[in-house]
Amino acid sequence: MIPGARLILLGRQGAGKGTQCVRLSRHFVVPHISTGDMLRAAVREGTELGRLAKKVMDAGGLVGDDTMVAIVGDRLAQPDAVGRGYILDGFPRTVPQAEALDEMTRARPIDACLDLDVPRELVLRRISSRRVCRDCGTNYMATGREHAEWICDVCGGEVTQRDDDTPEAVNRRLDLYEEQTAPLIEYYQRQGRLVVVDGVGSPDEVFHRLTAAVHAAQR
Ligand code: AP5
Repeated sequence: MIPGARLILLGRQGAGKGTQCVRLSRHFVVPHISTGDMLRAAVREGTELGRLAKKVMDAGGLVGDDTMVAIVGDRLAQPDAVGRGYILDGFPRTVPQAEALDEMTRARPIDACLDLDVPRELVLRRISSRRVCRDCGTNYMATGREHAEWICDVCGGEVTQRDDDTPEAVNRRLDLYEEQTAPLIEYYQRQGRLVVVDGVGSPDEVFHRLTAAVHAAQR
């Protein structure tokens, strides 16, 4: 990857964006900017943003565009993102967010928007067995692990189910994806920046498809 690349990873909730962004950011040595992780950190810290976001997130809703645009704008202005580029995970999620991102990256536009394509039935299965480390955010599958063993392999933190991974909240998030986020596929297609990547397969297979897509997009 050309140093300083700026990427978006789009896809349904549970498509594997978080899992793959962690790997891509290590592989290409660029910051992983996850709006979900930023909001969950604010919840843990008990800030005003965290209190506001918790209610919305637990119900499977979307935090307001102005709030999200301000958070991401601040993050993209940090020296690591300016100097090394970034991978955006969970932003933009609406057309107004995408328009605001275009505005704030006018001088150095996004290189590619990778759409991780996974059908709804499969993401529902993946999310229902997702468990996450409360401290470092590492993802695990519930299958094959005894409850007593649910200590994070990476940091030793407690591994639990996310508060917004209830069936009601997940279904609402997926409905909101179809209404508010899916139009971004056409948005980035019109800009000539969209690359669709098949997200069905093992995490390793999907990772190899994504790295190949990044290299192809930069040729
Ligand atoms: P966020 O944290 O972004 O959640 P999300 O979009 O719902 O995405 P997920 O984290 O559920 O899924 P993922 O695609 O990252 O999948 P994962 O890698 O975990 O946002 C949370 C909330 O914050 C939102 O609902 C909203 O309220 C708010 N928010 C955030 N950004 C916002 C914005 N811009 N505007 C407004 N509100 C915003 O994978 C899922 C599971 O599958 C895991 O268990 C994983 O181990 C497993 N898995 C992954 N890949 C594979 C594979 N290839 N095969 C088998 N299993 C796999």
